[in-house]
Amino acid sequence: MKYLITGGAGFIGSHTADALVARGDSVVILDNLSTGNHHNIEHLIGNELVTFYSGSILDSALVDRLVADVDHVVHLAAAVGVFTIVDKPLDSLRTNLHGTENILDAAQKHDKPVLIASSSEVYGKNGGGALNEESDRIVGSPLKSRWSYSEAKAIDESLGYFYYSELGVPVRIVRFFNTVGPRQVGSYGMVVPRFVSAALAGEPLEIYGTGEQSRCFCHVADAVAGMLSVIDGDQSVGSVYNIGNDREISIAALASLVISRLESKSAVVKKSYDDAYGAGFEDMQRRVPDISKIKSVTGWAPSRSLESIIDDIAGDLRHAGL
Ligand SMILES: NC(=O)c1ccc[n+]([C@@H]2O[C@H](COP(=O)([O-])OP(=O)(O)OC[C@H]3O[C@@H](n4cnc5c(N)ncnc54)[C@H](O)[C@@H]3O)[C@@H](O)[C@H]2O)c1
Repeated sequence: MKYLITGGAGFIGSHTADALVARGDSVVILDNLSTGNHHNIEHLIGNELVTFYSGSILDSALVDRLVADVDHVVHLAAAVGVFTIVDKPLDSLRTNLHGTENILDAAQKHDKPVLIASSSEVYGKNGGGALNEESDRIVGSPLKSRWSYSEAKAIDESLGYFYYSELGVPVRIVRFFNTVGPRQVGSYGMVVPRFVSAALAGEPLEIYGTGEQSRCFCHVADAVAGMLSVIDGDQSVGSVYNIGNDREISIAALASLVISRLESKSAVVKKSYDDAYGAGFEDMQRRVPDISKIKSVTGWAPSRSLESIIDDIAGDLRHAGL
């Protein structure tokens, strides 16, 4: 099989390319290297199964040409990370809306199946209990840049779903919850790599808000395996699947775990959300995935621990000399 991976030089994308190549598939990577990095895929360059295009999903002619030439599209390219979205809301919206529409138009024209990467951000502030695929979205004002990513990903899902139900395009959708691991960078607001790199450098770990808010973290290798189980499943077309790990931990406990695991002497400091992200930033108290749907449809479940995630990120950062 030949796959187009948009965003294939990014964090999840490069691990997806590794996994597909490892099973003997060909991959075509399209990435504009905005948050992705050539370094993530340089070990693949030269492999006859891999082709890299530097370009944008907003270039509809390029997208059309690349989609025409593959068997399947894995659409991961997006403007991501809280800092990116808050700093450049308009660019982010354009990438996440028009880019996805370009992919779906080309998939329809050339009759190709598509996997769309959505996000647990679609649930917004819904921090009730474990969130299943039918859980409500609770989001703040559309004028707050914080929520524009949630809005765009939700519209991407709707677009994908209606391209499937009205136009017959074989679309599958996954909602990644916090996915972490090697090659992820902390500078866009990702908490685990941010903590790990601070702990390695002996610098303070900055907790935004009280630290009582909790999250769940899934190893990228688990997340990619989950996504491939959806891509490979005939019964998963026209549906959406949560992908995440349901072990919950508070951000304060995460900071302590990172420090003890890495035997770091770093201190922990608190910073207000306003100072971290600008005035009026809203966050959710909990975000826990209900992954029973994907378990029952594809049989996938995560297997890697948070401790192994911390070890892997630390190993990666040490290797990179960071
Ligand atoms: N990492 C997570 O925890 C997480 C959680 C939920 C959803 N997701 C989704 O998974 C996907 C991959 O995210 P990631 O964490 O690997 O982030 P990432 O930033 O590493 O990957 C995104 C990639 O898209 C590329 N890109 C951005 N704009 C582009 C454009 N116009 N044209 C071509 N390429 C472009 C970037 O350069 C980058 O390589 C995204 O769709 C994201 O919304 C990730």
